[in-house]
Amino acid sequence: MEKTVFDLFKFNELYLVGGTVRDRLLGFKTNDLDFATNLLPDEVEKVLQKAGYKTHDIGKAFGTISFMVGGNKIEITTYRKNEKYQRDNRRPVIEWGKTIHDDLIRRDFTINAMAIDRDGTVVDLFNGQDHLNRGVLETPMDAEEIFSDDPLRILRAVRFRSRFGFKYSESVKEALKSQASKLLYLPRERILDEFNKILLGGHVGKALADMYAYKLLNYVVPELIILADVDQYSQYHSKNVWLHTIGVVENAPIDLALRWAALLHDLGKPFTKTFDTQVHFYNHEEVSAIMTESILHRLVLPRKLSEEIVYLVRNHMRANLYDKKWTDSAVRRFVLDTGEHLDKLLLLSRSDITSHNPAKVQLHLDDLEDLTRRIEELKNYKELKCPIGGKSIMDHFNLSTGKIVGRLKNDIMEALANGELRLGENEEVYLNFLAGKIHRE
Ligand code: CTP
Repeated sequence: MEKTVFDLFKFNELYLVGGTVRDRLLGFKTNDLDFATNLLPDEVEKVLQKAGYKTHDIGKAFGTISFMVGGNKIEITTYRKNEKYQRDNRRPVIEWGKTIHDDLIRRDFTINAMAIDRDGTVVDLFNGQDHLNRGVLETPMDAEEIFSDDPLRILRAVRFRSRFGFKYSESVKEALKSQASKLLYLPRERILDEFNKILLGGHVGKALADMYAYKLLNYVVPELIILADVDQYSQYHSKNVWLHTIGVVENAPIDLALRWAALLHDLGKPFTKTFDTQVHFYNHEEVSAIMTESILHRLVLPRKLSEEIVYLVRNHMRANLYDKKWTDSAVRRFVLDTGEHLDKLLLLSRSDITSHNPAKVQLHLDDLEDLTRRIEELKNYKELKCPIGGKSIMDHFNLSTGKIVGRLKNDIMEALANGELRLGENEEVYLNFLAGKIHRE
């Protein structure tokens, strides 16, 4: 595919650039192919159309022409320099570059500022390979200027830390601090997109700690900052609420709803803290849920995702509070109430528990194992068919088809789960049970 594109432009300058080059050098496979050329967008279009390709010019004002080869989207962008985002303006001001050097030097980090030519040779003008090998985020030119041209790069630095665990160079650290407030100029959808990617990184704990340290959280979810001032030393916790939160996010599986819920689950703690012989945060999950709703509304997350996150936050204590004295019917109620959210709720609980005081972790994990085992048993029960058919119920009680028959079957299933009835009984046993129930009602 790549060869096809190089062949189309055999008389012109063309390089593979951007994240694909970085990922390839790291040994990852990517289908994303971005090219850079000295041709102007009109000229690129002409070459492609002459060869019979249908081109798309949505990004043409920014120099990008796209087209499809073998089902993959290819983008070819004219060399750019001085790509600056103006204050209050979502569109960057662009000047075309003349050489690949012009194009690479204006990119965010040296690890993203390499190119590959048609022979496979890596063009590395700013020590990108060395920085990749050493795990360092460095800018090709002055870091403050790079961040100020497009403040999103501040969050991109954190994203690459979250994804690869890389460290910042000293100049990048300084620029993160000095340019942080420029995040105010960004439209919220660019912030959200980048922050979602940060949350999904394998090193998210380090990334969130940085966002606090460099005061970047102030511009994304400022409500989290106060958590660092809330101590919660108790039999369950040995860290402040912010450090505990970071631990929970890190423990959570890589799933957007779970990572967001982990991040926001304890937001209500500063407002509900009380003390008798020890610290309590009664009903903090409800306060957290209300705050979560308003934060996600402000950031405009998709509605379904928001609802899922709010549900997880609001109910995160339910599984944590499990103890072995719960009756089967309490477990069953929990399964029925939580419905489609059950699995994620258990995963969130596991992540929460694992960030507790180490002395208590095993105890709580054992409880959670027990709960999971009992849920599985009840689930098996749920999957079983009702041991008595609707027709027998209708004939026996002289009923015509209707909701009542379904309800009576459910009563039998619930009684089986509770241990009130057993499987394999004679039909009469079930009918007598229902007769008693109808009588009582
Ligand atoms: N780039 C940049 N500044 C930005 C965004 C992108 O300099 N604010 C440059 C980088 O060279 C980057 C390339 O444009 O590698 C492509 O950006 P993008 O498509 O967003 O890809 P990456 O973020 O690098 O990587 P991924 O594809 O994994 O998201």
